[in-house]
Amino acid sequence: MKLKCSLYDFYRDDLIPNLKNNTQMQIVQISDLHVGSQFLQEKFDILVDEVNKLNPDVIIITGDLTNEGLMKEYEQCTSFLRKFNTKKIITISGNHDYRNTGYLLFKKFFPFETVNELSDDVVLVTVGTARPDRNEGEVGYRQNLWLERTMKKYKDKVKIVAMHHHLIAIPDTGSDQLTVVDAGDVLRTVLNSKVDVVLCGHKHRPWAWTFGALTVVNAGTATSERVRGFFENTYNILTIANKTVQVDLKIVGGKRLPIEDIVNNYSQFGDV
Ligand SMILES: [Fe+2]
Ligand SMILES: [Fe+2]
Repeated sequence: MKLKCSLYDFYRDDLIPNLKNNTQMQIVQISDLHVGSQFLQEKFDILVDEVNKLNPDVIIITGDLTNEGLMKEYEQCTSFLRKFNTKKIITISGNHDYRNTGYLLFKKFFPFETVNELSDDVVLVTVGTARPDRNEGEVGYRQNLWLERTMKKYKDKVKIVAMHHHLIAIPDTGSDQLTVVDAGDVLRTVLNSKVDVVLCGHKHRPWAWTFGALTVVNAGTATSERVRGFFENTYNILTIANKTVQVDLKIVGGKRLPIEDIVNNYSQFGDV
């Protein structure tokens, strides 16, 4: 059953300002594909079509590419990702990718750089939060120190940090003990380093928290049945122009809207 959500009716794609002409960069954040069981092939096909039309500069995939970390899932996922015509795909591992010693396979199938200087103005740094056979996330003392030192080199750039686990708890996700366990240290680091955006996945619930100049953006699941709180498959589109970042939520096969609108117009969609 598809839940009806009146919120979607307020937005029309033709009312979203077209920033393409003065856009410095467009980044698509996809998360929690969960290739394996509960993977929705038809949603993936729509996703590929939409993203290829957008033609973003970069795609960042914030973890849980596979459901159980199995070889056949990694192989399938690799062939799926080849369908994107984007210049650069950055991947981060999630807790599901690390199941069944999948952490050994992740490095082989999806080698990635942690520091990505995407342009003269934009840097995207990835942080590993998944640990073998554990669901909770952790940045760790050393990685957090490294993050702080690294960010100091990019004072004048738009700074984006991407990780799988969510840094801050979000609504409609129940009793939550799975934020990164050292979230306080990491939050202090990103605020002190004047990071502009933190991109997270994991909870399958799109959301955004803003703290002064910092926005912590959570992506929904793009292609898994396990949607939560927001009953659509979604991904995020970041538009960076003149050193400012706009984040839009895109429903796979549906509307595009500023992500802050799902916060400002919050409703538990089951009640609509
Ligand atoms: Fe997930
Ligand atoms: Fe996860």
